[in-house]
Amino acid sequence: MRIALASDHAGYVLKTVVAEHLVAAGHDVLDLGTDSADVSVDYPVYGLAAARAVVGGQADRGVCFCGTGIGIGIAANKVPGTRAATAHDVTTARLARQHNDANLLCLGGRVTGPAVALDAVDAFLATAFEGGRHVTRIAQIAAAEGPRTADPRTEGPRAADPRTADQERQPTP
Ligand code: RB5
Repeated sequence: MRIALASDHAGYVLKTVVAEHLVAAGHDVLDLGTDSADVSVDYPVYGLAAARAVVGGQADRGVCFCGTGIGIGIAANKVPGTRAATAHDVTTARLARQHNDANLLCLGGRVTGPAVALDAVDAFLATAFEGGRHVTRIAQIAAAEGPRTADPRTEGPRAADPRTADQERQPTP
């Protein structure tokens, strides 16, 4: 599976742990940054990048990381077509797939340990959407979204990587 990863500085260490795990399992990892735990950056930049990679088709699923997994998920969900779920364990990661057809998992590097995070990621990748009664609810969410844009500055492989997207490369000191 092609999996986009992205984090801010607070999620960077957990991202590296998950990246190693996914590569070892044979997945194709698209790492959209950030590249350090020591330089403070803005989590929306990275959440939006991961969401655009998934919605734009460069990745099948995404996993995002910030301190709590909350902020980066809020940002990611602003990209139409994204269903980002913040999870804290295997159960919430599994249900995010079964009930919500989540395409992006968000984890908190300051609140979730590596062993639990890896189990949650594995559950997220292995679990199918249940469909049934949940289809109508997903459709209601999609209907509430604005129209998708075709603006190359905000979509496509170049814009998906915050290290090459000039429009959004504004790290915080
Ligand atoms: C960064 O300090 C922190 O606010 C961020 O990683 C995240 O937890 C926000 O939701």
